[in-house]
Amino acid sequence: MTELVGVGPWQGEWPDEDHYDPELLRDGDRRNVTDQYRYWTLEAIVADLDLRRHPFHVAIENWQHDFNIGSIVRTANAFAVAEVHIIGKKRWNRRGAMVTDRYQHVRHHETVEVFTGWCRDAGLTVLGIDNVDDSVPIETASLPTDCVLVFGQEGPGLSDEARAACEQTLSIAQFGSTRSINAGAAAAIAMHTWIRQHAL
Ligand SMILES: C[S@@+](CC[C@H](N)C(=O)[O-])C[C@H]1O[C@@H](n2cnc3c(N)ncnc32)[C@H](O)[C@@H]1O
Repeated sequence: MTELVGVGPWQGEWPDEDHYDPELLRDGDRRNVTDQYRYWTLEAIVADLDLRRHPFHVAIENWQHDFNIGSIVRTANAFAVAEVHIIGKKRWNRRGAMVTDRYQHVRHHETVEVFTGWCRDAGLTVLGIDNVDDSVPIETASLPTDCVLVFGQEGPGLSDEARAACEQTLSIAQFGSTRSINAGAAAAIAMHTWIRQHAL
């Protein structure tokens, strides 16, 4: 038998605060949310997250519909990243996001130039994450507080234009035979590096 996740209908007298959703109180809350947000409306959860999102951003190039974007959005939500930026094609496969895209701000930019202009206006340092010739190890780098970590696509990696726009490119140490790890896995490691340096 498959065990249901979440909680069933609210037991006892209903709370009357605005952040509670009457339908969830009545039917139960089976969403993949932390216990603190059980029975809360989507809007109330987003508003609460907005009060305590971290100041770093992440971006991924999407010229060929990269399948990692969903997992990057999910990880960004888990780490309360300010925003996820998608550079290139607007459409992306939401399956891997497991609905977290509803709680995460995702912004689209048509070109690298538009994206870097936006970062400049926002005062963010643009850092590439890739294992290219001039990369420095992320393990010993100090990440700025206000920054955006930019990931490349499966296959080509960071485009030349994106690399040129990055103040620095950081690599994740590898020890096996594969040239690279999956972009979603690399994004999780890089985001957690920022968290270890600034949020814990
Ligand atoms: C599958 S990799 C492809 C490019 C890679 N430069 C290569 O030579 O195969 C796709 C993306 O994942 C991330 N990535 C994968 N392995 C990485 C590593 N060891 N260090 C930093 N980023 C990595 C980067 O953002 C990269 O652009």
